[in-house]
This record gives sequence, C-alpha cells and structure tokens, in this order.
Amino acid sequence: MTRIYDPFLTKQETGTTDLELLQARIKALLGDSLEKVERILQDYRAPGKGLIREQADYVLAGRGKRLRPVLLLLCGNLGTFAEEYTLVRAAAAVELIHTASLIHDDVIDASSERRGRLSLNDVFGNRSAVLVGDFFFARAFELLAYCGDFELNMLFTRAIATMCEGEIEQAGCAFDLTISEEDYFANIYRKTGVLLEASCGAGGRLAALDDTTIGKLEAFGRNLGLAFQITDDILDIVGKPAITGKPVGNDLREGNITLPLIYILQDPDWGPLLREIISRKDFSSASLEFLRDPSCNRVPLETCRKIALSFIEKALEYLSFVRDSPAKTLLKELALSIPQRSC
Ligand code: IPE
Ligand code: IPE
Ligand code: MG
Ligand code: MG
Repeated sequence: MTRIYDPFLTKQETGTTDLELLQARIKALLGDSLEKVERILQDYRAPGKGLIREQADYVLAGRGKRLRPVLLLLCGNLGTFAEEYTLVRAAAAVELIHTASLIHDDVIDASSERRGRLSLNDVFGNRSAVLVGDFFFARAFELLAYCGDFELNMLFTRAIATMCEGEIEQAGCAFDLTISEEDYFANIYRKTGVLLEASCGAGGRLAALDDTTIGKLEAFGRNLGLAFQITDDILDIVGKPAITGKPVGNDLREGNITLPLIYILQDPDWGPLLREIISRKDFSSASLEFLRDPSCNRVPLETCRKIALSFIEKALEYLSFVRDSPAKTLLKELALSIPQRSC
C-alpha cells in the first residue's frame, strides 16, 4: 500500500477539520510571509548542480510542519516590526536550524525515515548527512547575519549550543533505566524546548516588544516545546508512521527512555517485561508490539497527556500577559492543538 504523508493532515486521516481550519487561519494572517519563507528556503539550498545541491534538494522536498517559523512570525506580528523581510529571514533561518538538527538527529538515532521519506542518512549515508546538516547550519547563520541584529545571532547560537547539550546528555543516559522525570524534563527542554523558546523570543524582539513581554513569550515557547516533545514521545509508541512520517519504537531502540517509557517501567505488570526486553536488546517490531497494547499503555499515556496539557496551560498563562490581537488568538489555538497532534 502506498504511504500517504501529509503534514497538513487531511480530513480522512484525522476525522476532524479543526486543525485544517486553524492552518487556514494562520495562512490567512501570515500567508505572504510564509510564502516568502518557502522561497528563501529554496534559494538557500545550494548553488549549482553538484552533490550538495542534490542532497539539499532531497531534504527540502520532504516538508515539515513549519512550527518554528510560524511561531516566530506570529510573535513577530504581536507588535510593529521594522521590516517584514527581516522577520521572514529569521523565520527561514530557524527552519534551517531545525532541519539541520533533524538531519543530525537521524544520524544519532540511526533513523531511516523522516517526513514521510527515507532519511538523508539512509539514502546518502551518515558522512553526507553530517556534512549536509553542517551546511544547513552555515546557511542559517548567513541568513541571520543578513538580519543585522547581533542579539538575534546570540539568541540562536546559544539555543543551538543548548540543543547539542540536550542530545549529548540524552546519549549519556542511553538505556539508563533509573532516569528520573526531572532528568527527562531537563533533556527535552534542552533538545526541543529551547528552539521554540528562541523562536518566540526572536519574533517578539523583531516586533520591538519590551523585554518583559519578550520574556513571557520565551516562557510560552519553552512550555510549548516541553508539551510538543512529550507528545512526540507518545507518538513514538502509538503514532501511525503514515501520518507522522517517521518510524515508531525508535526511542526505545536507541535507549532513549522517554516519559511514557519511564511510566511503563514503573508498572508492576508491564515494567518487568520491558526491562527484560531492554536487557536482551530485543527490539524487533514483534517484541515491541505489547507497547501499543492499550492495557499496557493506557494509564502511562494518559498521565503523559495530562502533563503535556499542564505545560500548555502554563504556556497560556504566560501568553495572557500579551496584548490581545489576531496573532495572539492564533498562538493560543496553536498551543491548544499541540497535545492533540498526530503528526
Ligand atoms: C521533530 O519536530 C523533532 C521534535 C522536536 C520532536 P517536528 O515535528 O516539528 O518536525 P517537522 O519539521 O514537522 O518535520
Ligand atoms: C527531537 O527528538 C530531536 C531534536 C530536537 C533535533 P526526537 O529524536 O524524538 O525527534 P524525532 O522523533 O526523531 O523527530
Ligand atoms: Mg530522533
Ligand atoms: Mg521522537
């Protein structure tokens, strides 16, 4: 059967039109800017027709949800920004940073699928993927330099350093069954939360908002990021690859003990089975099938969903300090859609 991967979910796949409606409203407000972001991404692939162009084309042909540029643009619409093109360039830069981090993440996680297609490392090998990731980081810095805002550069380079720390810490905890919830939250803030925090902060900064409001927007993005990663970790267990565009079970195979796995490990019935599978390193699809069984995952996943929701509520508290506007309404709705996402 042909796999359908549509990051902008169709009605048939979700059974709901809420998300489509939200996306349409985001497009109505940001349409022009989003199109410009896409154009910049195409322009920034690579010059000429060489191998790097082929590989950069391959990456950009797999479309993502563009969450970080949308957050940056929405926050950038909360005030009066000096120049739309600066905002658009910053939005494209954050998508390039994110894309670079995914290319490297797939090497680290030995993952063979991304955005509904074979991952770059699977098609071109790890060596190329490391270099193409570096190439995208460099292109992002070039774009940021064009923004001509020293603070903006600081914001994103610090975020990237923190993301690296998160991935390093996560690798250091591989197969550590004693990992605590606190360790987990600290790691997902670093690897995921920080870039959403920076995206919102950068938008607020370019909109010339005051420092207090920028701080609130950063806290909004940070909490969104935590909820986003918890939901991603749920999808790694019960997601549909045809919708998420990536495999299930990868976290466990790579020894990444996520929040759902922490709770399953605590279960008196299923915990011992999971421990045994981990100790045997038997991560075949058949032996991981029990994780998808509701009698195993229902309670742990419910707990995770509640925690994700509590981060969203916290995010919304921070957003409430921001002056009302159409962009703020969309930020709120986007936040509420995150724990329900299926891709
Ligand atoms: C994937 O991010 C990596 C995580 C932080 C979980 P996204 O789910 O935003 O990836 P794309 O850009 O839509 O592919
Ligand atoms: C997020 O973690 C990776 C980055 C922030 C780069 P994951 O490893 O869970 O992301 P996916 O599931 O591969 O997209
Ligand atoms: Mg991964
Ligand atoms: Mg994941």
